[in-house]
Amino acid sequence: MLAYTYVENGKFELQEKPKPRLQDAKDAIVKVTLASICTSDLHIKHGSVPRAVPGVTVGHEMVGVVESVGNGVKRVKPGDRVTVNVETFCGECFFCKNGYVNNCTDPDGGWALGCRIDGGQAEYVRVPHADQGLNRIPYAVTDEQALFVGDILATGFWAARISEIRQEDTVLIIGAGPTGICTLMCVMLKQPKRIIVCETDPVRREFVEKHYPNVSVVGPENLMQSVKDNSDHGGADVVLEVAGAKDTFQMAWKCARPNAIVTVVALYDEAQSLPLPDMYGKNLTFKTGGVDGCDCEEILRLIEGGQIDTTPLITHTYPLERIAEAYDLFENRRDNVIKVAIKAF
Ligand SMILES: NC(=O)c1ccc[n+]([C@@H]2O[C@H](COP(=O)([O-])OP(=O)(O)OC[C@H]3O[C@@H](n4cnc5c(N)ncnc54)[C@H](O)[C@@H]3O)[C@@H](O)[C@H]2O)c1
Ligand SMILES: [Zn+2]
Ligand SMILES: [Zn+2]
Repeated sequence: MLAYTYVENGKFELQEKPKPRLQDAKDAIVKVTLASICTSDLHIKHGSVPRAVPGVTVGHEMVGVVESVGNGVKRVKPGDRVTVNVETFCGECFFCKNGYVNNCTDPDGGWALGCRIDGGQAEYVRVPHADQGLNRIPYAVTDEQALFVGDILATGFWAARISEIRQEDTVLIIGAGPTGICTLMCVMLKQPKRIIVCETDPVRREFVEKHYPNVSVVGPENLMQSVKDNSDHGGADVVLEVAGAKDTFQMAWKCARPNAIVTVVALYDEAQSLPLPDMYGKNLTFKTGGVDGCDCEEILRLIEGGQIDTTPLITHTYPLERIAEAYDLFENRRDNVIKVAIKAF
């Protein structure tokens, strides 16, 4: 089968590989019907994910149909349409039992698919701990609608959940990339009084304005003023940092009112400074981390009910044979791309 492979630093290649087989009673083999490219795939390509193993098939955001399952798999069966979770987790360790599945202590725990073990930019993928890693897609939900459930939508949902948003709040989201927009959709479900989105790219600002007309959209140059004008207590009640640029962490806490929650979703290339003397007396709460992707079932129900729709994010679709072109488009942000869907079949 065809599998897009991390060859070495800076190089991915479409290779012919054997179809994966069940290796453990808890495994499932999934025929990938739709996959996507994530910013984290680019991080692997450029060597900033040291635990990524050369030779691995990349891709950790996909949906498909279960082809076979091991004896120990109880919740899914061959023929089921499923979303695949970016994280592998056992469901049994201390962290899993507390919902902190990103820190699952299983040897395959955490972000393994498309990083340490073969992922889904391929025709088939082996999913360990399939009872935890797969969620059945409701009949009325299409592959396109479910494509981001296991990764960027799970991230937005988790970020909105841990940010303790209340209905009287002004919420600031920094960054309107695919993950920022998913975060926005999940923040909207909490119905805060106001939402401000800050984004540098005018095309992405326009996208947010068009699809979410009740949101205030600003560039970083006007951000401080806009936050002051649109919040009741001199700053945002909740800030979600989803940009990960050089100055956006500082921007995030500076725009927060005293006693605000600042949630850092972004992953930085470099260490960030926490200037405690400058923020003394602001009494901020910072929340950080990798997504705990254990809400996929609830997210699928929200999609089924029409409360979340991420299909406008899919701006392009390519066949697996042309995935290199899709990467080139996504990486260079050409043609107003937001997300690319990859069809293997
Ligand atoms: N915590 C997690 O588990 C998790 C999961 C998924 C993604 N992420 C991280 O979330 C971040 C966003 O992911 P993405 O896929 O949307 O990537 P992206 O690079 O497409 O999005 C970042 C957006 O921020 C904008 N931006 C850059 N500088 C800015 C500034 N100064 N002010 C306002 N906007 C600015 C960019 O134009 C871009 O649209 C990345 O750092 C990614 O690694 C974290
Ligand atoms: Zn990802
Ligand atoms: Zn676990």
